[in-house]
Amino acid sequence: MAIIETKDLTKTYRMGHATIYALNRVTLSFEKGEFAGLIGPSGSGKTTFLNMVGLLDRPTDGHVSVMGRDTGELSSKEAALFRRLHIGFIFQTFNLFPHYTAFENVEFPLLLLKFDARTRKRMVMEALEMVGLADRTKSRPSELSGGECQRVAIARAIVKRPDIVLADEPTANLDAENSYNILEIMVRINRELKTTFIFATHDEKVIKYLKRKITLNDGKVVDDVVVQ
Ligand SMILES: Nc1ncnc2c1ncn2[C@@H]1O[C@H](COP(=O)(O)OP(=O)(O)OP(=O)(O)O)[C@@H](O)[C@H]1O
Ligand SMILES: [Mg+2]
Repeated sequence: MAIIETKDLTKTYRMGHATIYALNRVTLSFEKGEFAGLIGPSGSGKTTFLNMVGLLDRPTDGHVSVMGRDTGELSSKEAALFRRLHIGFIFQTFNLFPHYTAFENVEFPLLLLKFDARTRKRMVMEALEMVGLADRTKSRPSELSGGECQRVAIARAIVKRPDIVLADEPTANLDAENSYNILEIMVRINRELKTTFIFATHDEKVIKYLKRKITLNDGKVVDDVVVQ
């Protein structure tokens, strides 16, 4: 069974009298454990697609099903819970809480899920170990490099062991060395935890790592290639 399926997924925005098709009848399916990416020019709909699959926004038309659930049938409250349980996000700008330590940033999704303190500590330390930052638990984002901040953000995305991680331009603010570093970490997580990764990216460094490349143009899928 596919972990994510979209059928004729469409998202439009009104601009005065014009209608912009951010996504235009996108039908795609992803299997568990994929390491796939949406590529294509700026404005082609990559972020919009991740936002629909991540239940951050609702389609204008068409369907999104995640882990067998038709997400259109979920109330806002159910969608929020579903997202907390099953989906992790990684963003271009890290989106860490500046006043929280690395530990507290990674712990945050577990607080929402009401894990007890001992379990939270174990899970946070496991996640920070996976990204090589177990010795920086007390550092705040301002005391960490960009690469380290993104590693904290990866730990935060995977700490609850989500089925799916959605990463929107995760290397856009990183130099080449840090980009490769976080890519290697994500490949390892994909392999060890079988987490499904879907990227939106322009970055050739990320594209090299993808096992499936889906090209969008003007909100439509124009190419879909599995590597190897
Ligand atoms: N809130 C909005 N209101 C109006 N138009 C929007 C909105 N969000 C996105 N769009 C439009 O939808 C289209 C797709 O945008 P999207 O952000 O998904 O592109 P993208 O492929 O992620 O681009 P980039 O590579 O620049 O991040 C663009 O034409 C964009 O201008
Ligand atoms: Mg985008």
